Parts: sequence; C-alpha cells; structure tokens
Amino acid sequence: MLRVGMLTSGGDCQALNATMRGVAKGLYELFDEVEIYGFLEGYKGLMRNNYIKMKPSDFSGIITKGGTILGSSRQPFKLMNEPTEDGLDKVKSMKETYKKLKLDCLCVLGGNGSQKTANLLSEEGLNVIGLPKTIDNDLWGTDMTFGFQSAVDIATNTIDCIHTTAASHNRIFIVEIMGHKVGWITLHAGIAGGADVILIPEIPYDIKKVYEAIDKRTESKKGFTILAVAEGAISKEVAELPKKKRKEILENNPYPSVAYEMADKLKAYTNQDIRIAIPGHTQRGGSPCPYDRVLSSRFGAKAAELIKKKDFGKLVVYLNNQVTAIPLSETAGKLKYVNPDDDIIKEAKTLGISFGD
Ligand code: F6P
Repeated sequence: MLRVGMLTSGGDCQALNATMRGVAKGLYELFDEVEIYGFLEGYKGLMRNNYIKMKPSDFSGIITKGGTILGSSRQPFKLMNEPTEDGLDKVKSMKETYKKLKLDCLCVLGGNGSQKTANLLSEEGLNVIGLPKTIDNDLWGTDMTFGFQSAVDIATNTIDCIHTTAASHNRIFIVEIMGHKVGWITLHAGIAGGADVILIPEIPYDIKKVYEAIDKRTESKKGFTILAVAEGAISKEVAELPKKKRKEILENNPYPSVAYEMADKLKAYTNQDIRIAIPGHTQRGGSPCPYDRVLSSRFGAKAAELIKKKDFGKLVVYLNNQVTAIPLSETAGKLKYVNPDDDIIKEAKTLGISFGD
C-alpha cells in the first residue's frame, strides 16, 4: 500500500485542483493500492494533523475548478523555526504527522516560500515532491509555473475591456497587475493586451520617460494611453536608494497602491482624464485555462512517475519544452526575475512599447 500526503500552500491559483487530479490519476494508474491524505489549509494541516482521507471520486470533475479543494494558507518560511501562537514546534509537528500516518511521500503544491519549506522537510528526512504553483511565474528552475497563464488571460481580458472605454473617452488608464517582486504577468498581459507602457519591478522607471510615451501617443493622434503597471513597479530614484531607506519609503507609502501613486504623478503632468482599473484577486480566480490544465496534468503525471521511482527531494519543472525535475535544494531561496536584457523586452520595445527606462 502506497500512502501519499498532499497539500496546497501559499496564495491559491486556478490550477491547484487540476494538478492534484493529475498526481492522483497518475498514482492510481501506476500503483495497485494507493491511499491519499489531503492536508487542510497547507502546512497548517500537516502541523495540526488535520487531514481528509481522499477517495478517487474526490479527484473527479475538478480539472476545471479554480481554488483548492484542500484550502490553503501562508506559512512564511522565515517563521518555520518559531513556535506557533500556542507553542507548537512547527517542523517537529509536521514530521510527527508524516510518521504517524506512515506516509511514503508528501506532495507540496506551492510557490517559492512553500518549496523552501518542502526542501527543509526533505533535509529533515521526509520524502518530498514539489509541484511548481504560482500565478507570478517567479519560481526559480522552471520556465513555467501552473496558474501563470490563467492569470495572464484574466489580466489581458481586463486590458482588452479597458481599451474600448479608454478609446471612447480619450483617457489615460492605469491597469494595476499582480506581482510585487516580479513583472511576468504584467509583461505578458501588457503585450497581449496592446498596452502602450509596461512598468515592472525589474525595470525601474523614469517618470519623464512615461510622460514622453504619453506625449508620443498624443502626437500620433492617439487620444488614449494604457499603462500596465505591476504592483511592485518602482521609480529609478527609489530603486537607487540604499536598501534600508528604500524599505522605509515603500513601507510608509501613503498611496493605497502603485496605480494611485502613478495617477498622481501623471496628474501633475497632463490635463487628460486618468482612470484606474485593478483586477486584483480576480487574477487568481475562476477556471484554469486549457494551457494550465495540460501543464498541470503533465506535472501530475511526472510527480507520480517520480514517486514510482522513489526519486524524492525533487521539484517537478518545465524546462526547454520538457517536463522534468530538479533537486528542491537547487530552487530553494531563489526567485526567477524578468531579465531586462531578454529578447521579449527588446521585441516589445521594437513594437514601440515603453518600459519607462
Ligand atoms: O503570489 C501570488 C500573489 O497573488 C501576488 O501576485 C500578489 O502580490 C499576492 O499574492 C497577493 O497576496 P494576498 O492574497 O495575500 O493578498
């Protein structure tokens, strides 16, 4: 009898259920007898021995279902060695649950922080397989995470909808897109939606260049401008400050979010009407797009194969058009940023898109 634990950790995304389904279907095919234990609310469930014993039918009909049937929570890696509010040793309690249920393996569906904890548990002797989740696509070691393409679809749809109203009223629109540290969704949705300006954390902007981009639109008789701005977009002046000072400024920022700050900066320059659109958590909601359903199914199959081979301590990844796996220790603690020198940025600039640099 094979006994596998499964949990979904961190911010949710559209293809978590599709991925769990992929793993389960793979396991039911590859093993004669399988028991799957689903821990509720991510690592919290593993710590608190809070789980459901899952049936094959639990995995039916969920490829289209967003969110996670197990629930999720954020359990920051940096606090893993601190006890819970009621004094529970987090790592010790997770190991105890794993041993108590006599698990052969634990599958962790999570992003950067969750995979760091997965690596920690692997180093502590548990058999762990990671599956790369996040709408942000910032997990180091994989070209693609599940959830990303679905989020890009939604963010693109927002820009598409804004286009017609922006054009009707000759307005400047700022569309704020998720991504505090990285700009993958903004970059892809910005290009797909035909944004005129794309601002991402990896390319700090010079506000004068943004003004220039708006002027260029006006001069070419385009009455409206659309800016796709990542949550973490940052000005050159702030980016160049020493780390401590920068942190202080960001923490004391009086604006509700970057879109409002940008609107204020633009107001000081132009008389044109400015409006803001923020799709927010809709970017994590709804049904996974077909691309993600395929990716998740392939990731799930690979995880089942790794379990069959007892090849643990691995993160399933998509690299150079192949589903493969890398050691969890390789990815732990690293983020995958947009490289400002990448071809995609050069190509976008060739199309006339401004990055404010
Ligand atoms: O990491 C996914 C993500 O959606 C980010 O893009 C976003 O900045 C953040 O989570 C929002 O977090 P929360 O759901 O905790 O508000």
